[in-house]
Amino acid sequence: MTDPRTVFLKDYQAPAYGIPRVRLQVDIHDGVTRVTAGLNMRRAESTPVGTPLKLHGVNLTLKALAIDGAELEADAYTVAGEELVIHAVPEAADFVLHTEVEIDPEHNTALEGLYLSKGMYCTQCEPEGFRKITYFVDRPDNMALFTTTISADKKRYPVLLANGNCTTRGDAANGRHFATWEDPFPKPSYLFALVAGNLACLEDHFVTRSGRKVTLKLFAEQHDLRQCHHAMESLKASMRWDEERYGREYDLDIFMIVAVSHFNMGAMENKGLNIFNTSCVLAHPETTTDLGFQRVESVVAHEYFHNWSGNRVTCRDWFQLSLKEGFTVFRDQQFSADQLSASVQRIEDVAVLRNAQFAEDAGPLAHPVRPESFIEINNFYTATVYEKGAEIVRMLHTVLGEADFRKGTDLYFDRHDGQGVTVEDFVQALADASGRDLSPFMQWYRQPGTPVLHVSTAHDAVAQTYTLTVRQSVPAKTGFPEPKLLPIPVKLALFARDGQPLPLQLTGESAAVGVERVLIADQAEQRWVFTGVTEAPVPSLLRDFSAPVILDYAAGDEELLFLMRHDNNGFNRWLSAQTLFERMMLAVIEGGAAELPGLAAVLESLAGLLPGLVETDPELAAKLLQLPTENYLADKVGVIDPQRIHDVRLGLQKAIAKHLSAFFQNQYLNGHESSYQYSSEAIAARTWRDVSLHYALLGTPSFTLRDAVGENYRKAPHMTERMSALRALVHHDAPHAAVCLADFFGRFAKEALVIDSWFAVQATNPLRGVEEVRRLTAHSAFTLTNPNRMRSLLAQFANANPVQFHRADGAGYRLIGEKIAELDALNPQVASRLLGAFSRWKRLEPGRQALAREVLQGLAGRALSNDTSETLGRLLG
Ligand code: PHE
Ligand code: ZN
Repeated sequence: MTDPRTVFLKDYQAPAYGIPRVRLQVDIHDGVTRVTAGLNMRRAESTPVGTPLKLHGVNLTLKALAIDGAELEADAYTVAGEELVIHAVPEAADFVLHTEVEIDPEHNTALEGLYLSKGMYCTQCEPEGFRKITYFVDRPDNMALFTTTISADKKRYPVLLANGNCTTRGDAANGRHFATWEDPFPKPSYLFALVAGNLACLEDHFVTRSGRKVTLKLFAEQHDLRQCHHAMESLKASMRWDEERYGREYDLDIFMIVAVSHFNMGAMENKGLNIFNTSCVLAHPETTTDLGFQRVESVVAHEYFHNWSGNRVTCRDWFQLSLKEGFTVFRDQQFSADQLSASVQRIEDVAVLRNAQFAEDAGPLAHPVRPESFIEINNFYTATVYEKGAEIVRMLHTVLGEADFRKGTDLYFDRHDGQGVTVEDFVQALADASGRDLSPFMQWYRQPGTPVLHVSTAHDAVAQTYTLTVRQSVPAKTGFPEPKLLPIPVKLALFARDGQPLPLQLTGESAAVGVERVLIADQAEQRWVFTGVTEAPVPSLLRDFSAPVILDYAAGDEELLFLMRHDNNGFNRWLSAQTLFERMMLAVIEGGAAELPGLAAVLESLAGLLPGLVETDPELAAKLLQLPTENYLADKVGVIDPQRIHDVRLGLQKAIAKHLSAFFQNQYLNGHESSYQYSSEAIAARTWRDVSLHYALLGTPSFTLRDAVGENYRKAPHMTERMSALRALVHHDAPHAAVCLADFFGRFAKEALVIDSWFAVQATNPLRGVEEVRRLTAHSAFTLTNPNRMRSLLAQFANANPVQFHRADGAGYRLIGEKIAELDALNPQVASRLLGAFSRWKRLEPGRQALAREVLQGLAGRALSNDTSETLGRLLG
């Protein structure tokens, strides 16, 4: 039985009425905000005269309603649920609807629509928040020209912003003032934004390649302004990059970013007025780690790139969400790869994909990149829509090559500028521009599940051939009992035993075609036969992770060790090491082996490799030593025993640490940190330093080392060093941990984002658990009403401290369940997301499974939001 609230892609119909033009007046007063709207309505040609007009509206108090200047009688309309239905509609195709509503932003804790964040008013409208501001046809295929006038107290809210250009501003009675903004581009309501607050501004400019000067403004609290420079530099770099790489120029005279402290997501691409979570815009060496700096750079780029991939060309409906998100994530990944190191970027992107998206695709929350139905669209801003969506675009890029891909995106932007379109339109544009049939790739959007690519190899010394036999299998998922074959691009190389790549010639070809090729696996089973192969080579498969699949190739340990050392693809060196570690650990966790198989050879190989690698590529050295996570391993076993997974993984870390104990200690003690620089070399050195500290403490740490960490905490020249030391102290339960935690809190009491990291470092401590987290929920600095703060403690605990969250007595489940119930009443969207921490519950060993079930069923017995009840239904269903 389907839930009556479910919406289906197959039911799509264009809106019966459109709104080409909107004039909004938003009057902000303490306790009430009045929104007056003048909507130029247009009946669609296919809509019969007299069809009732339906508008979306949520939590609005209707004060006045008129058509073409005439007030509507009470029986001319009804307000029911989330709809205003007007029965008496004029015969003329065009008419003007006037509405006046009151809203209550001060009590809006869901942070959708207009809300108050630390004394400033701001909006979040994607996906369906605009209906909480005024009555509207609140769907992305309704595109309107917006004129917005805001009025508020001048002293308390000196800055008044909306989309587009400011055309008028002035003073009004009673110490108030107003500003009118006009956006010359038609846009869906989800891209609407306004801000009223007391904000400081960092200003700069950018000259587009056609010579237009664009004003750039970054708004934040006065106190945070010194932390805005990195975002500004990132913005300018993004603007240049999009011109050079995609031929996309910015289109307004002004581009603004506003930093707000209460925000459900990372940031939002509202036309000309991006609104950012402070965590994705503020960065300063004293308060922000390398990871934070990189996140700011990539999120600023992501939101900026949406101006074309999302805003100028938008989504027809929310099922098409990946059209804008998958493509834009791919673009921001490309951008980040160009800023720092391309192979490190790919390693990080694939780690996210394998940790978050593969997990989602393997569990009860699995859905296609383009879902076919949903109850609450907020639940579909997922790793699948974003990250797997980006991988599909990446495959298309790989198959077409840079030049044809670019022709395709040019055609896409040109053909669909100003439209709301579908995923088919995107793929079709790439196909038309390149003359290639890309229709098989559409299947990637339609079915969930991570495909497994089974590869076996055979070398024939007499015929000098090397045969790869490739099979694919896609798991059946609920609602998708018979998954179809997919086109899987496999980028590969073959290495001779001396480490040289072989020329690649398939039978039937007259000559070799390079030393790296992309072949497409699109059959249930197929064979690729390479000729002229004199000795059995080592295959390097799925290079750069050319497809989002699980590779099942029974490489020998020595092959993996070989690739870890010799592959000329940095990404595959990392993947080979991951595969090897994964195999060793699973042999114990799942296979019942008493010891890690092949450990001696692996340790010897690391000992031979690391000292040199640290000199040439310290970042890769660091990444090689970051073992597959506990959650990743949990997805590889039939029945999950979180404690066992934790112990085995820690065992491998300790074995590495003990074997190279002196090396790690020396690396840490001989290195030193100087003033902060944002460059790939400097980040690489710091990342390695952090990893070597972690292993040094797991080995046999000397007193000198223990003292050095405390000392380095105190005299750290920047946050990356300070946080590295603090985390090490806390997670290794060092004697100075408590003192340093107290010092840290005092030192950064005024920096909200740093206090978030103070909570996070404790929440993720594998040595401490539920009691500690519960105690911290009572800390005066903790609150459920700020999503960053909530996540820094609860989501970090539930998702990044598996051994404590899954404590055998169920205390972790009860704590998180309790908090989800509390949170759901305040902010359904983030409550529903937190519930995702239970996604593996059905595969837990029986004891934990029963305890988790109890908590989930307890939640199911309560009155919950749509968001949380949908997620809960899928978890339990
Ligand atoms: N569209 C935003 C982004 O990816 C994400 C977002 C969704 C923000 C919903 C807020 C609400 O870039
Ligand atoms: Zn996005």
